Amino acid sequence: VSSLIDKVTISSFSVVMKYTILSGSQRTQAQSLKVAKVIQNIVETEMKSEGYLLDLAHHPLPLYDDEFDQGAPEAKKFWHPFGQHLKESDAVIVVSPEWNGMVPPAVKNFFLLTSKDEIGHKPSLIVTVSSTRGGAYPVAELRMSSYKNTRLCYIPEHVIVRDAKSVFNAVHPDSNNSDDVYLHGRLRYALKLLEQYAKALSHVRGSGVIDHVTYANGM
Ligand SMILES: Cc1cc2nc3c(=O)[nH]c(=O)nc-3n(C[C@H](O)[C@H](O)[C@H](O)COP(=O)(O)O)c2cc1C
Repeated sequence: VSSLIDKVTISSFSVVMKYTILSGSQRTQAQSLKVAKVIQNIVETEMKSEGYLLDLAHHPLPLYDDEFDQGAPEAKKFWHPFGQHLKESDAVIVVSPEWNGMVPPAVKNFFLLTSKDEIGHKPSLIVTVSSTRGGAYPVAELRMSSYKNTRLCYIPEHVIVRDAKSVFNAVHPDSNNSDDVYLHGRLRYALKLLEQYAKALSHVRGSGVIDHVTYANGM
């Protein structure tokens, strides 16, 4: 009986989650930013959670260098507020355009500046953006090369926004545009799933099993 009560309590307990939404385009007029803002709106108004938007076009981050690596106070100062937001986040949403079949350099730089202390063992949803029929390469690139040392956990679901100019032009789907209706639904589904992973992975982080001292970097 007590385990049943626990389950009921946990499933009906609504927690305010905090999400960091990274808009990875370096262009101020980016479609990625448009999509990131729609996500922020869904997080705040529909999921009743907090969505912190980190827009790499309007807030470009300095390039990672050895001073940053060595923890020089001045070099670290600029990063502090961003790192703090990431630390407080339950999950990260990475919105990245496809540029020449890659993620932009600003996204790679972000993954050098952040660390396992901020995003380790937190779930992440990948959302990629293409003005045409692309968008698969940055999914593959992120899944392959951005999680090893950060220990960010990409969930198996991702969203590819193709023909970006014709979709997500409003917070709600355009009922006359079937692609827009589909992608709005798919995005909401992926975000709901992310929320469940965020709840589940908080148990992993609190388990006491994680040992980043002995195993500082992934293999
Ligand atoms: C430098 C550069 C390279 C691009 N290369 C690709 C590409 O390889 N594949 C693709 O689908 N779109 C490519 N695009 C177009 C983007 O998909 C388009 O700009 C889209 O709006 C997403 O980028 P944004 O968020 O910067 O707007 C490229 C755009 C730029 C600026």
